[in-house]
Amino acid sequence: MFTFLAFIKFLLRSSNQHGVHSPFVYNLVTKCFYDRKKHLSYLILKQYRKSLLKDERTIRIKDFGAGSRVLKSDEREVSKMAKIAGISPKRARLLNRLVRYLEVDTALELGTSLGMGTAAMAAGNNIKITTLEGCPETGKVAEEKFQEFGLRNVELKVGEFEEKLVVSGQWSVVRPNSQLTTDNRLAYGADFQSMTNRNSKFQIPNSQKKQPTTDSPQPTTPISILNTKYSLLFIDGNHQKEATLAYFEKLLATVHNDSVMIFDDIHWSRGMEEAWEEIKAHPQVRVSIDTFQWGMVFFRREQEKEHFVIRV
Ligand SMILES: C[S@@+](CC[C@H](N)C(=O)[O-])C[C@H]1O[C@@H](n2cnc3c(N)ncnc32)[C@H](O)[C@@H]1O
Repeated sequence: MFTFLAFIKFLLRSSNQHGVHSPFVYNLVTKCFYDRKKHLSYLILKQYRKSLLKDERTIRIKDFGAGSRVLKSDEREVSKMAKIAGISPKRARLLNRLVRYLEVDTALELGTSLGMGTAAMAAGNNIKITTLEGCPETGKVAEEKFQEFGLRNVELKVGEFEEKLVVSGQWSVVRPNSQLTTDNRLAYGADFQSMTNRNSKFQIPNSQKKQPTTDSPQPTTPISILNTKYSLLFIDGNHQKEATLAYFEKLLATVHNDSVMIFDDIHWSRGMEEAWEEIKAHPQVRVSIDTFQWGMVFFRREQEKEHFVIRV
């Protein structure tokens, strides 16, 4: 009901390209959003989805955040998940076009699920994608599909977003009497203190911080998601207000002037709508576009702050 009313409000406020005076947004809408050509890459997206819809396996789901309103059991058929949980075919095609139109070279996705959004970004595009998924069995299916479809420039990291989005998120470590290993779970109290933003809502509870011990490995080179710049960030997991705002704040460190952040399901709940309003109001955000399913924000310093509501 909430979403239905939100949609009516959206319809009343939304427009197409008419009345859009910003050349950047006008071109984006007319040349990308409303590009009706049939691109060859869409065939890959179709095949990818088809192969999931035919997948009869049942997997055990580790549920996160807001979870699914439709699928309640923790045992789920891959085919049903593909039908209900992932990006729609229309949005997948739009995401595929966006990557090309905006010449996106690097992307970060929060919430891989079965990889349909990831495949949409990757298909036919020259892009390197990092995608995060918390559920190990879902991630395993996605990884298999990336291999099957030859999506080589995709790096899937399995683990909770809250664990992965830390500056010292991954260390190359040497343990006494052991070989060089990579332990991406290591986080020391001291490192968190200095490297996380203390004013941020994104705080790791003290109980989860690991304290150094005598045989603690010594950190060497930090390889972190937050040390990279991304041209496109697709935030599509844990659709709750506090979490969404925390990811936004954290990921601001990874954007450049021409980056776009896309938030899925901004009208899913009152909390998500509140999160969207706060994101739009952030001083670093210059342009926002509400397309109902997605809220998109751009950081183009050269542009006046302006908000758009566009039907796609
Ligand atoms: C809506 S699905 C992603 C759909 C996918 N982006 C697509 O386009 O098809 C959200 C995914 O995010 C994962 N997720 C949600 N909250 C998470 C968290 N806090 N840490 C890790 N993964 C999380 C869920 O397991 C789920 O697979």
